[in-house]
Amino acid sequence: MAIRETGKWSRESWRAKPIQQVPVYPDASVLTAVEKQLRGYPPLVFAGEARRLKSELGKVADGKAFLLQGGDCAESFAEFHPDNIRDTFRVLLQMAVVLTFGGAVPIVKVGRLAGQFAKPRSSSDETIGGVTLPSYRGDNINGPEFTAEARTPDPKRMVQAYNQSAATLNLLRAFAQGGYADLHKVHQWTLGFMTDAATAEKYKRFADRIQETLEFMEACGLTGDTVPQIRETELYTSHEALLLPYEEAMCRNDSTTGQWYGCSAHMLWLGERTRQPDHAHVEFMRGIQNPLGVKVGPKTTPEELLTLCDLLNPQNESGRLTVITRMGAERLAEHLPTLVRAVQREGRKIVWVCDPMHANTVKSSTGYKTRQFDRILSEVRAFFAVHRAEGTHPGGVHFELTGKDVTECVGGTQAITEASLADRYHTHCDPRLNASQSLELAFLIAEALKEERVLQKKDRLAAAS
Ligand code: PEP
Ligand code: CO
Repeated sequence: MAIRETGKWSRESWRAKPIQQVPVYPDASVLTAVEKQLRGYPPLVFAGEARRLKSELGKVADGKAFLLQGGDCAESFAEFHPDNIRDTFRVLLQMAVVLTFGGAVPIVKVGRLAGQFAKPRSSSDETIGGVTLPSYRGDNINGPEFTAEARTPDPKRMVQAYNQSAATLNLLRAFAQGGYADLHKVHQWTLGFMTDAATAEKYKRFADRIQETLEFMEACGLTGDTVPQIRETELYTSHEALLLPYEEAMCRNDSTTGQWYGCSAHMLWLGERTRQPDHAHVEFMRGIQNPLGVKVGPKTTPEELLTLCDLLNPQNESGRLTVITRMGAERLAEHLPTLVRAVQREGRKIVWVCDPMHANTVKSSTGYKTRQFDRILSEVRAFFAVHRAEGTHPGGVHFELTGKDVTECVGGTQAITEASLADRYHTHCDPRLNASQSLELAFLIAEALKEERVLQKKDRLAAAS
């Protein structure tokens, strides 16, 4: 397919295109003042870090690493607390250790953190008791309370979101590099989880083998004191690039390369509702050099996907574009093969990632939005099966999760039921996996990664003989 003709990009060229899901602010002068203020603030990430993540994702695209992306559906101002940041960091790291062991490949860790505030909505307003108000769109846009005042978009919220992102990222960097993330410590937390979980037995053998390996490494002199990779880790940040006035204001020109980077996070993604090729969001994203993601639902055609590859990854760079499928297990088995074949036929380099959350949201009998653990697992399994059949690499997983013991998704060994959802239902948007459900999924995915590894080895031996 020919590369599409596109006009000259600038950080504001998106403004001339049709746009969806971005609010109209009542006072344009306040918006302009906030944008100016943010343009003068320090970037949250440095271009070199985004380049490093792109190169790590390039390894994922080539089948030599696996991506773990996860965090809140929506971060909130009300829940801003060091314990929440710490707990999400912990569970992501625990999952990563289990996955590294299962897959025997490096795990690239990317949080939905330090900037994941803006939410696309299926309806622009909400009616309760005969009163209609604008929908809640995330804390960087308006407030969740059902009052006219809270629901009016306020540009100043962007400054608060920036400050919260900066403080969150600061703590994450401290945890990652300050010794808190030592591999031995992370695994001790996981062993702690083993004693809590009701049916821990099925994961215990796996965890014990990790423990033995760590002891063996220690005996060989490989400890946090001698090897930085054991003491430290790297956690990148990501969010949906929805609120373009904010994203534009956070663009910085990199003095090393002269290119533009979105400096609000290392990786930015486009949602399923804002990826129209001729609209504002795609226009903005094509010009920044960060690694990009795009969410893809079951109705996506191969032509649409290839057009997005043309626009977002015209140089066909490995690691530049991550396609995050969110289809539901059955529809994924039906539609993903067609997309994978088109991408393979055209020789496009992409990272395939599975978001098993967004097509599995249902309303419980008690009225809560929820997701079933088994449906989530089924979609991940279907994703692995399709890539196995097509000979492509299942590159990673994307979860909405928290390190807290919430009751938002049903199932798992804790056996959260619809009746218990009310106990600790804290999310501001979609239901998240709690710490125990997240870790449990990591064990199950680690098994799948291991099977994949065994099958690949067999293929290689068969090819060589
Ligand atoms: C999300 O990731 O929270 C989201 C809204 O996803 P999608 O664009 O896939 O619906
Ligand atoms: Co969500």
